[in-house]
Amino acid sequence: MSDLRQTAEALVAPGKGILAIDESFPSIKKRFDSIHVVSTEETRRAYRDLLITTQGIGECVSGMILFDETLRQSTAAGIPFAKALSDAGVITGIKVDQGAKDMFFLAGEKITEGLDGLRERLIEYRNLGARFAKWRAVITIGNGIPTRGCLNANASALARYAALCQEQGLVPIVEPEVLMDADNSIERCYEVTEATLRRLFQNLYEQRVVLEHLILKTNMVIAGKQCPQQTSVEEVAEMSVRCLYQSVPAAVAGIVFLSGGQKAELATAHLNAMNAMAMKHPWPLSFSYGRALQDPALKIWGGKPDNVPAAQKALHHRAKCNGFATLGKYTPAMEQQLAA
Ligand code: 13P
Repeated sequence: MSDLRQTAEALVAPGKGILAIDESFPSIKKRFDSIHVVSTEETRRAYRDLLITTQGIGECVSGMILFDETLRQSTAAGIPFAKALSDAGVITGIKVDQGAKDMFFLAGEKITEGLDGLRERLIEYRNLGARFAKWRAVITIGNGIPTRGCLNANASALARYAALCQEQGLVPIVEPEVLMDADNSIERCYEVTEATLRRLFQNLYEQRVVLEHLILKTNMVIAGKQCPQQTSVEEVAEMSVRCLYQSVPAAVAGIVFLSGGQKAELATAHLNAMNAMAMKHPWPLSFSYGRALQDPALKIWGGKPDNVPAAQKALHHRAKCNGFATLGKYTPAMEQQLAA
C-alpha cells in the first residue's frame, strides 16, 4: 500500500479522529482573549505543549494539525513537537493556506490564498515531519451568496493545493467550510453544501487528484446559529449523510467534520448519530474538531501552569467521547462515566 494511502487510512482509523490546533495568529488571540491570556510566542507554545503532551491522547487522536509557528516549536523538555507527536503515535499535520481574503468584486465572499510558493513550503514541512496538510476555504451563506464565482475560485484553489500535496508526498485534507453563523434554514445549508462539494469534486477530477489519497473535511448540514428553527440531532445527522451521499465519490479515503462553533457535546452527539445509523457508509465518518475538542481544556487552563493536568484530562475526555462517536457507541451518560 502506498504511503499516502496508509496515512489517509490511519487518520480515519476506527475510534480515532483529528485534533485541529492550527489557529492563525488572529484566531488564537481571540481564543486567548476569552480567558484573559496575552498571546505571545511563549503562551502559544505553552498551550500547544499542553495539548500535544496529553498522556494517552494517541488512543483516540490519530493526527494533529499544527500552525507554521507550532511546527517549529518544542516541548518544555526541548523535544520538537513533531517528534513528541510521533512518539505518542500521532501523525503531524500542517495548515498550509494563508487565510481567506475578501473578494473585491464579490461582496461578502472570500477566497483562500497561499498557492504561490506552496511547493517549496510543502517540501520544507515534510522535512520538518508533517505527513498531511490542510487548506480551508470559507463559503458564506447570505442574500444572493455564495455565487458561482466564489465556489469556482475556491474549488479550483483547493484542487491545485491537493495536487501539490500529493506530488510532495503529503495527504491533503480539503476543507470547504460552509459557515454556520447566519440565520439560514437547514435546507439552505444542505443546498449550499451540496453545490460546494459538487463543484469541489469536479475540480479535483479535472486536476486528476487521487481520491483514495485524500480526506474531505466538511461542515455538518445544520441550521445557522441565528435561525429560530433549530433541528434535532437526528435531523442534522440524516441531512448531513444524505448530502454527502449526493456529492462525494465513494473512493474518498475518509470524511471528517469541523465543529464550526457547535457546543462540544452537541458536536459529539451529531457525529455519533451519523455513525449509529443502520446503513454502513462508504467512508469512515470522523472528526477534525478545533473548538469542540479544545474549549473545555482552554477554559480550565486559563494560562495557569498548575491547571495543566486538569486541562489535559478534559481534552482526553472529549477526544475519548468523540472516539466512541466514530463507532456510533457514544452515549451522553459517558460524559460523567468517562470523566470520573
Ligand atoms: P472548529 O472545529 O473550531 O470549527 O475548527 C476546525 C478547523 O480546523 C477549521 O478549519
